[in-house]
Amino acid sequence: MNTPDQQTALEQAARKRIKDSHALDGDAGRLANFYRGWASSYDVDVAQGYCGPMIVAELAAAVQTAYLARHRADMTILDAGCGTGLVGVELESLGFRLIDGFDLSEEMVEKARQTRAYRKVRGDVDLNRLPSEYSSASYDITVCCGVFTLGHVGPDGLRELARVTRPNGFVIASVRKSFAEATSFEDYVRRLQDEGVLIPATCLRNGRYAADEDAHYWVLEVPKEMRTTEEQGS
Ligand SMILES: C[S@@+](CC[C@H](N)C(=O)[O-])C[C@H]1O[C@@H](n2cnc3c(N)ncnc32)[C@H](O)[C@@H]1O
Repeated sequence: MNTPDQQTALEQAARKRIKDSHALDGDAGRLANFYRGWASSYDVDVAQGYCGPMIVAELAAAVQTAYLARHRADMTILDAGCGTGLVGVELESLGFRLIDGFDLSEEMVEKARQTRAYRKVRGDVDLNRLPSEYSSASYDITVCCGVFTLGHVGPDGLRELARVTRPNGFVIASVRKSFAEATSFEDYVRRLQDEGVLIPATCLRNGRYAADEDAHYWVLEVPKEMRTTEEQGS
């Protein structure tokens, strides 16, 4: 049992790690190194007030009920930047069974593996450079929580999420508010819509996310027919 002073020191250390994670400039090497050191205490550090994973999973469940005819347990879901598996655990508790995940950090992924919520989970995978085994149009739903945040992945990460999701499937992403403002995230979504890559279905604005800040939650549909590169240019 920690004394109140020890508890305060632990909370301060957790806040510092969260803040430090926002200063990694999207550099894959720095991110992997940082999360290697954070994997063992991540869940405890974010436990206070981090409701992003629950909201993303509940949106996936709502989208499945509202729009996707097949049974939930038969839906294939990709959790991009799955970390220690907080989203996978929520998805599993809602009845999803075919959940794959990947992350830059092998140490974070090892924690995700231990949850047993995932069918397949891979570390050392960069969303900005997805290996060929992540083929196009593979998943019914792709979720991404806590990754569109300061110092991590830019809005163009949406393109790969769209590519691996099947036509009429959905991409669901949390977007930290300060990151959304800093990157003009909504303008980028409009650009992807104009290019025929993703269609915004809904956005929960200013939703609860973490103890220190809210987020927007985007639900984006992959159009039935992706426009070709030539068509996008015309
Ligand atoms: C804040 S954590 C969120 C983890 C988990 N989704 C959650 O909500 O708890 C951010 C995760 O994104 C991963 N990440 C950052 N950049 C990435 C990239 N380019 N490709 C894949 N994963 C990345 C980190 O390794 C880390 O596990």
